[in-house]
Amino acid sequence: MIETIDLKKGFGDKTVINGVSATFKSGQCNLIIGTSGSGKTVLMKCLVGLFEPDSGSIIYDKRNFTEMDEHERKQLRQQIGMLFQGSALFDSQTVQQNVMFPLDMFTNLTYKQKCKKVNETLDRVNLKDANRKFPAEISGGMKKRVGIARAIVLQPKFLFCDEPNSGLDPQTSLLIDKLIHEITVEFKITTVINTHDMNSVMEIGDHILYMYQGQKEWEGNNKEIIYNKNQKLNDFIFASEFLKDAKAMRMIEIERGEK
Ligand SMILES: Nc1ncnc2c1ncn2[C@@H]1O[C@H](COP(=O)(O)OP(=O)(O)OP(=O)(O)O)[C@@H](O)[C@H]1O
Ligand SMILES: [Mg+2]
Repeated sequence: MIETIDLKKGFGDKTVINGVSATFKSGQCNLIIGTSGSGKTVLMKCLVGLFEPDSGSIIYDKRNFTEMDEHERKQLRQQIGMLFQGSALFDSQTVQQNVMFPLDMFTNLTYKQKCKKVNETLDRVNLKDANRKFPAEISGGMKKRVGIARAIVLQPKFLFCDEPNSGLDPQTSLLIDKLIHEITVEFKITTVINTHDMNSVMEIGDHILYMYQGQKEWEGNNKEIIYNKNQKLNDFIFASEFLKDAKAMRMIEIERGEK
Protein backbone atom coordinates (compact mmCIF):
# COMPACT_ATOMS: atom_id res chain seq x y z
CA MET A 1 0.00 0.00 0.00
CA ILE A 2 1.13 3.53 -0.75
CA GLU A 3 -0.30 6.63 0.90
CA THR A 4 0.23 10.29 0.15
CA ILE A 5 -0.59 12.90 2.76
CA ASP A 6 -1.18 16.50 1.69
CA LEU A 7 1.42 16.21 -1.07
CA LYS A 8 2.50 19.42 -2.76
CA LYS A 9 4.86 20.06 -5.66
CA GLY A 10 5.43 23.14 -7.75
CA PHE A 11 7.91 24.53 -10.24
CA GLY A 12 8.90 28.16 -9.69
CA ASP A 13 5.73 29.92 -8.58
CA LYS A 14 3.48 27.41 -10.35
CA THR A 15 1.78 24.85 -8.09
CA VAL A 16 1.31 21.56 -9.93
CA ILE A 17 0.32 19.14 -7.14
CA ASN A 18 -1.78 20.99 -4.62
CA GLY A 19 -2.34 18.96 -1.45
CA VAL A 20 -3.13 15.41 -2.64
CA SER A 21 -4.01 12.84 0.02
CA ALA A 22 -4.69 9.42 -1.44
CA THR A 23 -4.34 5.69 -0.77
CA PHE A 24 -3.20 3.14 -3.35
CA LYS A 25 -3.95 -0.41 -2.18
CA SER A 26 -2.15 -3.63 -3.04
CA GLY A 27 -3.60 -6.24 -5.39
CA GLN A 28 -5.49 -3.65 -7.38
CA CYS A 29 -5.02 -1.25 -10.26
CA ASN A 30 -5.08 2.33 -8.99
CA LEU A 31 -5.73 4.67 -11.91
CA ILE A 32 -4.86 8.35 -11.99
CA ILE A 33 -6.92 10.13 -14.62
CA GLY A 34 -7.30 13.74 -15.67
CA THR A 35 -6.78 16.11 -18.58
CA SER A 36 -3.39 16.78 -20.05
CA GLY A 37 -1.42 18.98 -17.65
CA SER A 38 -3.48 18.08 -14.56
CA GLY A 39 -0.37 16.72 -12.84
CA LYS A 40 -0.54 12.93 -13.31
CA THR A 41 3.06 12.45 -14.38
CA VAL A 42 4.40 14.88 -11.77
CA LEU A 43 2.46 13.01 -9.07
CA MET A 44 3.84 9.66 -10.28
CA LYS A 45 7.38 11.04 -10.43
CA CYS A 46 7.00 12.22 -6.81
CA LEU A 47 5.79 8.75 -5.82
CA VAL A 48 8.85 7.01 -7.28
CA GLY A 49 11.30 9.66 -6.08
CA LEU A 50 12.18 11.22 -9.45
CA PHE A 51 10.84 14.52 -8.09
CA GLU A 52 11.17 15.72 -4.49
CA PRO A 53 7.82 17.01 -3.18
CA ASP A 54 7.82 20.49 -1.62
CA SER A 55 5.78 19.29 1.35
CA GLY A 56 3.63 16.37 2.52
CA SER A 57 4.48 12.69 2.91
CA ILE A 58 4.64 9.51 0.85
CA ILE A 59 4.27 6.32 2.87
CA TYR A 60 5.21 2.90 1.46
CA ASP A 61 3.77 0.14 3.69
CA LYS A 62 4.10 2.34 6.80
CA ARG A 63 7.64 3.43 5.82
CA ASN A 64 7.97 7.16 5.22
CA PHE A 65 9.61 7.52 1.81
CA THR A 66 10.03 11.28 2.17
CA GLU A 67 12.20 10.81 5.27
CA MET A 68 14.37 7.96 3.97
CA ASP A 69 18.09 8.42 3.34
CA GLU A 70 19.65 7.45 -0.01
CA HIS A 71 20.55 3.93 1.17
CA GLU A 72 16.99 3.17 2.33
CA ARG A 73 15.57 4.60 -0.87
CA LYS A 74 17.86 2.42 -2.96
CA GLN A 75 16.59 -0.66 -1.15
CA LEU A 76 12.99 0.38 -1.67
CA ARG A 77 13.64 1.07 -5.36
CA GLN A 78 14.42 -2.61 -5.83
CA GLN A 79 10.78 -3.29 -4.98
CA ILE A 80 9.57 -0.78 -7.57
CA GLY A 81 8.93 -1.56 -11.23
CA MET A 82 8.22 1.14 -13.76
CA LEU A 83 6.77 1.00 -17.25
CA PHE A 84 7.67 4.26 -18.94
CA GLN A 85 5.63 6.04 -21.57
CA GLY A 86 6.76 4.74 -24.97
CA SER A 87 8.31 1.66 -23.24
CA ALA A 88 11.82 3.26 -23.16
CA LEU A 89 13.62 0.08 -24.20
CA PHE A 90 17.33 0.10 -24.99
CA ASP A 91 17.32 0.06 -28.79
CA SER A 92 20.78 -1.47 -29.17
CA GLN A 93 19.95 -4.38 -26.86
CA THR A 94 17.93 -7.49 -27.57
CA VAL A 95 14.67 -8.28 -25.81
CA GLN A 96 16.56 -10.69 -23.54
CA GLN A 97 19.19 -8.08 -22.66
CA ASN A 98 16.50 -5.48 -21.94
CA VAL A 99 14.64 -7.76 -19.55
CA MET A 100 17.87 -8.96 -17.94
CA PHE A 101 19.03 -5.40 -17.20
CA PRO A 102 17.44 -5.11 -13.70
CA LEU A 103 18.83 -8.56 -12.80
CA ASP A 104 22.32 -7.41 -13.85
CA MET A 105 21.89 -4.24 -11.78
CA PHE A 106 20.42 -5.63 -8.59
CA THR A 107 21.21 -9.36 -8.26
CA ASN A 108 24.19 -11.68 -8.05
CA LEU A 109 22.49 -14.46 -10.00
CA THR A 110 24.54 -16.52 -12.47
CA TYR A 111 23.95 -15.99 -16.20
CA LYS A 112 22.08 -19.30 -16.35
CA GLN A 113 19.80 -18.30 -13.45
CA LYS A 114 19.17 -14.91 -15.04
CA CYS A 115 18.26 -16.53 -18.38
CA LYS A 116 15.79 -18.77 -16.56
CA LYS A 117 14.14 -15.78 -14.87
CA VAL A 118 14.02 -13.82 -18.13
CA ASN A 119 12.37 -16.74 -19.92
CA GLU A 120 9.82 -17.26 -17.15
CA THR A 121 8.94 -13.56 -17.23
CA LEU A 122 8.71 -13.37 -21.02
CA ASP A 123 6.49 -16.43 -20.84
CA ARG A 124 4.26 -14.65 -18.29
CA VAL A 125 3.69 -11.73 -20.67
CA ASN A 126 3.02 -14.14 -23.57
CA LEU A 127 6.22 -13.33 -25.41
CA LYS A 128 7.97 -16.54 -26.29
CA ASP A 129 10.78 -16.87 -28.81
CA ALA A 130 11.45 -13.13 -28.96
CA ASN A 131 14.69 -13.20 -26.90
CA ARG A 132 17.04 -12.46 -29.78
CA LYS A 133 14.96 -9.75 -31.43
CA PHE A 134 15.78 -6.05 -31.21
CA PRO A 135 13.12 -3.46 -30.28
CA ALA A 136 13.03 -2.16 -33.87
CA GLU A 137 12.00 -5.64 -35.04
CA ILE A 138 8.88 -5.99 -32.87
CA SER A 139 5.44 -4.31 -32.80
CA GLY A 140 4.30 -1.58 -30.37
CA GLY A 141 2.23 -4.06 -28.37
CA MET A 142 5.20 -6.43 -28.10
CA LYS A 143 7.41 -3.56 -26.95
CA LYS A 144 4.94 -2.83 -24.15
CA ARG A 145 5.11 -6.49 -23.13
CA VAL A 146 8.90 -6.32 -23.04
CA GLY A 147 8.58 -3.12 -20.96
CA ILE A 148 6.21 -4.92 -18.58
CA ALA A 149 8.53 -7.94 -18.41
CA ARG A 150 11.46 -5.66 -17.53
CA ALA A 151 9.32 -3.89 -14.89
CA ILE A 152 8.25 -7.13 -13.18
CA VAL A 153 11.36 -9.33 -13.55
CA LEU A 154 12.48 -8.46 -10.00
CA GLN A 155 8.97 -9.26 -8.72
CA PRO A 156 8.22 -5.75 -7.50
CA LYS A 157 5.73 -4.94 -4.76
CA PHE A 158 4.95 -1.65 -6.45
CA LEU A 159 4.37 -1.12 -10.18
CA PHE A 160 4.03 2.25 -11.91
CA CYS A 161 2.81 2.63 -15.48
CA ASP A 162 2.68 6.03 -17.15
CA GLU A 163 0.23 5.90 -20.06
CA PRO A 164 0.76 2.19 -20.83
CA ASN A 165 -1.60 2.32 -23.80
CA SER A 166 -0.24 5.33 -25.63
CA GLY A 167 0.15 4.56 -29.31
CA LEU A 168 -1.71 1.25 -29.20
CA ASP A 169 -4.98 0.33 -30.92
CA PRO A 170 -8.03 -0.29 -28.66
CA GLN A 171 -7.84 -4.09 -28.84
CA THR A 172 -4.12 -4.30 -28.10
CA SER A 173 -4.62 -1.73 -25.32
CA LEU A 174 -7.20 -4.01 -23.76
CA LEU A 175 -4.82 -6.98 -23.85
CA ILE A 176 -2.09 -4.92 -22.18
CA ASP A 177 -4.56 -3.64 -19.55
CA LYS A 178 -5.73 -7.17 -18.80
CA LEU A 179 -2.15 -8.39 -18.52
CA ILE A 180 -1.25 -5.62 -16.05
CA HIS A 181 -4.41 -6.36 -14.06
CA GLU A 182 -3.75 -10.12 -13.95
CA ILE A 183 -0.17 -9.63 -12.79
CA THR A 184 -1.32 -7.09 -10.18
CA VAL A 185 -3.82 -9.52 -8.65
CA GLU A 186 -1.57 -12.60 -9.03
CA PHE A 187 1.42 -11.05 -7.23
CA LYS A 188 -0.59 -8.66 -4.98
CA ILE A 189 1.26 -5.68 -6.45
CA THR A 190 0.30 -2.08 -5.64
CA THR A 191 -0.11 -0.84 -9.20
CA VAL A 192 -0.48 2.83 -10.11
CA ILE A 193 -1.42 3.69 -13.70
CA ASN A 194 -1.66 7.10 -15.36
CA THR A 195 -4.10 7.07 -18.21
CA HIS A 196 -6.61 9.00 -20.22
CA ASP A 197 -7.95 5.86 -21.86
CA MET A 198 -11.60 5.45 -20.91
CA ASN A 199 -11.55 1.78 -21.94
CA SER A 200 -8.89 1.22 -19.28
CA VAL A 201 -10.96 3.10 -16.72
CA MET A 202 -13.95 0.84 -17.34
CA GLU A 203 -11.96 -2.42 -17.64
CA ILE A 204 -9.42 -2.24 -14.84
CA GLY A 205 -10.38 0.78 -12.71
CA ASP A 206 -10.43 -0.92 -9.30
CA HIS A 207 -9.69 2.47 -7.79
CA ILE A 208 -9.73 5.73 -9.73
CA LEU A 209 -8.40 9.10 -8.73
CA TYR A 210 -9.49 12.02 -10.86
CA MET A 211 -7.04 14.91 -10.84
CA TYR A 212 -8.15 18.43 -11.67
CA GLN A 213 -5.68 21.31 -11.63
CA GLY A 214 -3.34 19.51 -9.23
CA GLN A 215 -6.03 18.42 -6.79
CA LYS A 216 -7.92 15.20 -6.17
CA GLU A 217 -11.34 16.14 -7.50
CA TRP A 218 -13.04 12.73 -7.23
CA GLU A 219 -12.23 9.12 -6.34
CA GLY A 220 -14.13 5.88 -6.67
CA ASN A 221 -14.21 2.72 -8.79
CA ASN A 222 -15.27 1.88 -12.34
CA LYS A 223 -18.86 1.17 -11.31
CA GLU A 224 -19.27 4.40 -9.36
CA ILE A 225 -17.75 6.54 -12.10
CA ILE A 226 -20.68 5.94 -14.47
CA TYR A 227 -23.20 7.31 -11.98
CA ASN A 228 -21.05 10.06 -10.50
CA LYS A 229 -22.56 13.51 -10.23
CA ASN A 230 -19.33 15.51 -10.34
CA GLN A 231 -19.70 17.98 -13.19
CA LYS A 232 -15.98 18.36 -13.89
CA LEU A 233 -15.46 14.59 -13.98
CA ASN A 234 -18.46 14.11 -16.25
CA ASP A 235 -17.23 16.82 -18.60
CA PHE A 236 -13.92 14.94 -18.75
CA ILE A 237 -15.10 11.36 -19.24
CA PHE A 238 -18.18 12.03 -21.31
CA ALA A 239 -16.45 14.54 -23.54
CA SER A 240 -18.18 13.61 -26.79
CA GLU A 241 -21.88 14.13 -27.55
CA PHE A 242 -22.10 10.41 -28.31
CA LEU A 243 -20.92 9.43 -24.83
CA LYS A 244 -23.12 12.07 -23.18
CA ASP A 245 -26.13 10.52 -24.96
CA ALA A 246 -25.00 7.02 -23.93
CA LYS A 247 -24.80 8.11 -20.29
CA ALA A 248 -28.22 9.82 -20.46
CA MET A 249 -29.74 6.62 -21.91
CA ARG A 250 -28.16 4.53 -19.17
CA MET A 251 -29.48 6.85 -16.46
CA ILE A 252 -33.02 6.64 -17.93
CA GLU A 253 -32.77 2.83 -17.97
CA ILE A 254 -31.68 2.79 -14.34
CA GLU A 255 -34.51 5.11 -13.29
CA ARG A 256 -36.93 2.74 -15.00
CA GLY A 257 -35.39 -0.13 -13.05
CA GLU A 258 -33.93 -1.86 -16.10
CA LYS A 259 -30.52 -3.44 -16.03
N1 LIG B 1 10.16 19.54 -14.94
C1 LIG B 1 9.18 20.45 -14.98
N2 LIG B 1 9.44 21.76 -14.86
C2 LIG B 1 8.47 22.69 -14.89
N3 LIG B 1 7.15 22.40 -15.05
C3 LIG B 1 6.83 21.10 -15.19
C4 LIG B 1 7.81 20.06 -15.16
N4 LIG B 1 7.18 18.87 -15.32
C5 LIG B 1 5.87 19.16 -15.45
N5 LIG B 1 5.65 20.49 -15.36
C6 LIG B 1 4.33 21.16 -15.45
O1 LIG B 1 3.44 20.52 -14.56
C7 LIG B 1 2.13 20.47 -15.12
C8 LIG B 1 1.59 19.06 -15.03
O2 LIG B 1 2.34 18.24 -15.92
P1 LIG B 1 2.17 16.67 -16.03
O3 LIG B 1 3.22 16.20 -16.95
O4 LIG B 1 2.12 16.08 -14.66
O5 LIG B 1 0.74 16.55 -16.68
P2 LIG B 1 -0.04 15.22 -17.05
O6 LIG B 1 -1.33 15.24 -16.27
O7 LIG B 1 0.83 14.05 -16.88
O8 LIG B 1 -0.37 15.49 -18.58
P3 LIG B 1 -0.39 14.46 -19.84
O9 LIG B 1 -1.76 13.82 -19.79
O10 LIG B 1 -0.26 15.36 -21.01
O11 LIG B 1 0.73 13.50 -19.69
C9 LIG B 1 2.23 21.01 -16.51
O12 LIG B 1 1.75 22.33 -16.52
C10 LIG B 1 3.71 20.98 -16.82
O13 LIG B 1 4.08 22.02 -17.67
MG1 LIG C 1 1.68 12.64 -18.24
